[in-house]
Amino acid sequence: MTHPIPRKTFQTSEAASQAVAQEIATLIRGKPKPVLGLATGGTPLKLYAELIRLHREEGLSFAHVTTFNLDEYCGLDREHPQSYWNFMWRHLFDHIDIDPANVHLPSGTVAEQEINNHCAAYEAAIMNAGGIDYQVLGIGRTGHIGFNEPGSAIDSKTRHVLLDPITREDAAKDFGGIEQVPTGAITMGCGTILSARRIALLAFGAAKAAVVDAATTGPVTDQLPASFLQQHPATTFFVDQELADAS
Ligand code: GLP
Repeated sequence: MTHPIPRKTFQTSEAASQAVAQEIATLIRGKPKPVLGLATGGTPLKLYAELIRLHREEGLSFAHVTTFNLDEYCGLDREHPQSYWNFMWRHLFDHIDIDPANVHLPSGTVAEQEINNHCAAYEAAIMNAGGIDYQVLGIGRTGHIGFNEPGSAIDSKTRHVLLDPITREDAAKDFGGIEQVPTGAITMGCGTILSARRIALLAFGAAKAAVVDAATTGPVTDQLPASFLQQHPATTFFVDQELADAS
């Protein structure tokens, strides 16, 4: 069923991030083997900072938590400063008590002929863990979720994709030039994401207002993959006042 996606607006991105962190903490405290789906980008940084604070100051343990990240750039090994593996360890995993064996990201360096098997194994690992309880998302300028660019099918699974030129342009500053930005990635599919039991999409700032408006209340279309979330029964967009004022 299609329905407008509920939005929760907070005065600041910190407050929005704290609200999502509280939902995650409640899940982690209430379930023996919780499974988180995690995102990269600038947007979830305050959420990860708050999860680290909850671990350090309020005893929130991640020892029994399993994580699956949405995506990884192709061609970057784990140690590359812009790899999502590196990002996640730097901004979250190095600072909490998660068991490294429970951390999953797609590999950016798997051999071309092994990519399909690798993606199928990623899907199987999610299933074997019991499915994703709580998926954190950001949103790209193209309306992508993970790296599901316009044209992605609603039932797509983990796979190799090519990045939209707009997405590469947005990443250029992190890589020191667009020519350094990888052309491809491995991403969970839209179908993988929609299988999560609860989804929280975070979006902050005036620049995200138009794409958030289109995703939450516009037509459901593969030209804006985040609009597929209108067909998910438990998705909430967490936005800040700055975004709300511009929408
Ligand atoms: C990348 C990531 C997405 C993220 C997007 C937005 O493309 N693959 O998961 O949502 O960037 O990034 P930011 O949060 O920095 O705006």
